[in-house]
Amino acid sequence: MIRFIEDKETKKRITRSILEALTEWFEVEESRESYIEESAELPMFASFEDKTSTDANGFLCLKRTGDATVELAVMGVLKECHRTGVGRRLFAAAKDYAVQQGYTFMQVKTVKTGMYSDYDITNAFYRSLGFRELEVFPLLWDEANPCQIYIMNLKSAVNVISTRHSYRGAFVEEPVPEEDLKIIASAGLNAPSGCNKQTTDLIVVNDPEVLSKIKAVLDPPVAQTAPAMIIVLTQRINAYRDRCFAVQDYSAAIQNMLLAIVELGYQSCWYEGHITDEDRICDKIGEILNVPAGFDVVCILPVGKAAQDFHAPSKKKFSERVKFNGWS
Ligand SMILES: Cc1cc2nc3c(=O)[nH]c(=O)nc-3n(C[C@H](O)[C@H](O)[C@H](O)COP(=O)(O)O)c2cc1C
Repeated sequence: MIRFIEDKETKKRITRSILEALTEWFEVEESRESYIEESAELPMFASFEDKTSTDANGFLCLKRTGDATVELAVMGVLKECHRTGVGRRLFAAAKDYAVQQGYTFMQVKTVKTGMYSDYDITNAFYRSLGFRELEVFPLLWDEANPCQIYIMNLKSAVNVISTRHSYRGAFVEEPVPEEDLKIIASAGLNAPSGCNKQTTDLIVVNDPEVLSKIKAVLDPPVAQTAPAMIIVLTQRINAYRDRCFAVQDYSAAIQNMLLAIVELGYQSCWYEGHITDEDRICDKIGEILNVPAGFDVVCILPVGKAAQDFHAPSKKKFSERVKFNGWS
């Protein structure tokens, strides 16, 4: 399991225990000691066998290098845990954190491929995470260790998809600019729809009075501090013959909007079950917003900046749900 480490002495202890076991990569004592010292001041994630373990089997530190960029400053995983998913899980937690902190790029430096076999493995690992070569600086360190800089766009579609999680916490008390709400709504409208029937419509709510009327009918209360909401409407229009794809249409629109919300630095949650069950909160919202007959309110998406930490929910294993070329 992955933990965010805050205590400075614990950070140094973890960094020391891992780096001293990885002398193939961290051979020079002086630079190892400087990593250990520096780690105390950096955001750190560490990996543990289970909830009760106190000895980490891997760690990773991030370091801000500019307004838009964070560096994967140092990472180490015990050799016996290589190829077990520890490094990937550490990186996924760090990437979530970097996106939530508003960074757009992540960089990492290592010794260029083709110099040493241990570093070739490191290069392959970074590339498999999605890093791309930016530039080699032959003399940044020294001639024997040409520095390869890798870069990752944290706002690429696949990264935004992997860092989107349902957010149900409090929001920062700060209006969402109308331009951002328009970008989010347009992302919804750009979704595919069966036979291009475009059965999904949206009402953007950012007027505090209207918002508070909607919040008052949400029972149990959710999204009570959201500074804006997007209300998703659907119409039952047949795509062809008796086939109506309205559910698929609005689902695609919602997912597009959730991704746009995350890319712009906000958070949200797909609230549908909550408002469409027997207490029909959706109809009350429809009345408040003067939704005409023939349109159904199916979902609300709060929009705002997260005021609390949040984490990815656990998902089933990739191999349980994805097969190649047949089920078995
Ligand atoms: C059709 C649909 C309806 C949902 N309705 C609700 C809801 O009413 N309340 C809620 O808290 N989350 C709702 N969710 C969010 C899911 O609970 C959430 O996507 C799921 O737990 C997985 O977590 P993740 O979004 O962080 O990956 C809904 C999601 C979908 C796709």
